[in-house]
Amino acid sequence: VKILILHGGTSKEREVSLASGRAVADALELRHTVELVRLDQDSLPDGIQSADTVVFPALHGTFGEDGQLQALLDAAGVEYCGSGAAASRLCMDKVAAKVVAREQGVPTPDWMTFDAEGKPLADDVIAQLGPSLVVKPVDQGSSVGLHFSDHRSALGVALSQVHRGKWLIEQRITGRELTVGLLEGKAMGVVEIVSSSGVYDYQAKYTPGSTEYLYPAKLKPDIKAHIQRYAERLFAACGCRDFARVDFLLDGESLYFLEINTLPGLTTTSLLPKSASCAGYDFEMLAEALVAPAVK
Ligand code: DAL
Ligand code: MG
Repeated sequence: VKILILHGGTSKEREVSLASGRAVADALELRHTVELVRLDQDSLPDGIQSADTVVFPALHGTFGEDGQLQALLDAAGVEYCGSGAAASRLCMDKVAAKVVAREQGVPTPDWMTFDAEGKPLADDVIAQLGPSLVVKPVDQGSSVGLHFSDHRSALGVALSQVHRGKWLIEQRITGRELTVGLLEGKAMGVVEIVSSSGVYDYQAKYTPGSTEYLYPAKLKPDIKAHIQRYAERLFAACGCRDFARVDFLLDGESLYFLEINTLPGLTTTSLLPKSASCAGYDFEMLAEALVAPAVK
């Protein structure tokens, strides 16, 4: 079996994906035939339909993570790692995932959605959700496009910077930032993110040293168990396959689901490897586990 690792792509997370793909290729090439293929457009590379090829999509964001690539691979009859098209589409849509969370009894911050063509009035938003808010695109990763606002004029500025697409405004929960990785639907260690700037944005995510990570996070056993149970419930309810990472906030004793990532980052600063390390996996073992179900 040849493992074809796709990375790059044209999304806003291209650089992250390039790093994820390289890391996975380095980890797998000791024991597998690996080909690392950089995508520069949103289509399948030529010659992918070989019977003994398994694709590892080390892609993030639009096309690679949102189900489009997975649907093309399904149509081409090519085996791939990670979630299928429907689950990928669902999880890339933060609002759809929040709806699933509500249905599953997993708390998530209150929210409203809007389209760039029909922006709400700041006063109406604040009347509904209060003044402390997060404005974010419905379908981007790595905090791309994220705005925080804690008063009316800041919300006005954030809304004025929105130009296209579907957006969500969420009540801002101030609390501890936690995430948990899953392998084959089973939750691993919980990672706590302590950003020195106080905001875990794109820069804090990918600048080595700018963020402190505590793993396993120091949590009361029942809170930890809750996080893991919620994550496993959402993985199943969203129809995910193989692996994922689920992000939460903890305010006092109250947990809030933020989102589920079907193709979590695998860079040196990424979180899934940290969660897996709590369960005894070094990066090579993790890479092996990520591809195992598809390669078997
Ligand atoms: N969206 C980035 C890659 C992550 O979730 O790790
Ligand atoms: Mg994400």
